[in-house]
Amino acid sequence: MAAKSYHLWNPFTVMDEFLKIKGFGPATIVRGDGPYVYNARGTRFINGFSSLWNVAIGHGRRELVDAAAKQMQELAYASCFRQVHPRAIELAAKLVDITGGRYQHVYLGTNGSEAVETALKMARQYHRQSPVPSDHGRYKIISLRHCYHGVSYGVTSTSGLDSDEAKFGPLLPGFVQIEPPYCYRCPYGKTQYPECGLACAHALEEKIQSEGEQTVAAFILEPIMGAYGIIVPPEEYYQVVGEVCRKHGALFIADEVTTGFGRTGKLFATEDWNPAPDILCLAKAISSGYLPLAATLATDVIYRRFLGQGNQFEHGSTASGHPVCAAVGLANIDILLNERLPENSAEMGARLISRFQELSNRRMQIGDVRGRGLMIGIELVGNRESKEPLTDKATFDIVLDLATLGLLVYYRRNILEFLPPLIIDDTIVDDIVKAVDTALETGLKANLARKARLAKEFAASKLG
Ligand SMILES: Cc1ncc(COP(=O)(O)O)c(C=O)c1O
Repeated sequence: MAAKSYHLWNPFTVMDEFLKIKGFGPATIVRGDGPYVYNARGTRFINGFSSLWNVAIGHGRRELVDAAAKQMQELAYASCFRQVHPRAIELAAKLVDITGGRYQHVYLGTNGSEAVETALKMARQYHRQSPVPSDHGRYKIISLRHCYHGVSYGVTSTSGLDSDEAKFGPLLPGFVQIEPPYCYRCPYGKTQYPECGLACAHALEEKIQSEGEQTVAAFILEPIMGAYGIIVPPEEYYQVVGEVCRKHGALFIADEVTTGFGRTGKLFATEDWNPAPDILCLAKAISSGYLPLAATLATDVIYRRFLGQGNQFEHGSTASGHPVCAAVGLANIDILLNERLPENSAEMGARLISRFQELSNRRMQIGDVRGRGLMIGIELVGNRESKEPLTDKATFDIVLDLATLGLLVYYRRNILEFLPPLIIDDTIVDDIVKAVDTALETGLKANLARKARLAKEFAASKLG
């Protein structure tokens, strides 16, 4: 494609650098098949991050194509504003069913940002309509610093990052953060769980007290922080923060946009949390990305506060409950359940983690291997003792190397992230480990090999 005909403005992309490389390697993807994606020349890549953590069932499933086509013919669009259609009703019922009765009401949307934005507005309005007048002043949202909940203004305001403030500030008032449960680099200066006393979880109570209990509407978290580098807290963390929310009357919101639908080896990462979250945000694998779909689930206690004249949830968008997206979501969930993909995620994830751990005996750049199910991170270091992070450039070289070896991974700072489709088998696990082993090989030999592979790729790309 000639550069002058390129009008697309890519999200989160350094455009001037990207335009130079968009014809090479995996920068333009034209086709997908199961766990693989292909570029225009037919080079095959393992889709090691499921096309943005999205395509859980893999590419090319006929059932979803058929579900979309059938629904488009029957009813291409109808809204859920004071109206309804069968697919939205069925999808809501399915989500209530598969979340084990913890939630009874489902707001449908189209992306993860919307699912979380909806949860935040729901939490504030819930308190505003409390029969207890002293709760009306609860508006603050507490979150984990460095969290990623999406791109709209409310959810952007949860990150607590100076870089967001610098680019988009002023961010919204009423958003406060505690430090994340990052055990490998504990922000509280502790060295080990359980000796740390879970300072990161108890920080929530301290924050609620210092902000003033009667000002706090909700605490939100990702069960495993994805964008920040696969941050997995000890199991006890969830119970402690959940109990703190209960004790202080704050709603407990779980953002399962990435962890939901089997990613962590369970259908939902939150399914055995006690206390359970009050609001659950879902997107991505709810439709495996075949069409945009999201959901915000709430308990009956929350929903009932929105009943009665003037109390309605003052929120919605044209595509809320879109029938074609709902039909595709239903077909996708059937596949996830019938093919026991959460179970496969648990099994393949355990295998991948243990293989990476073995690899860490030989590859000294591996500082930490962590994750649950098929949501796995490898933190790369220049020095294991000091945990000095591998530089951005060295990490990017490894990511490039992996691409030339036929494996696409997501990366953030010095962390490689592996979130492949939940359908992968032993062979693909072994292929992933082999590629990582080769890419982490240090010294001249690896550099020469990398150059040779890149040269081959460039030459072929010119021919193509
Ligand atoms: C945990 C989490 N929440 C929310 C979002 C935002 O979802 P979307 O990009 O669909 O708006 C993401 C996206 O990666 C995410 O990982």
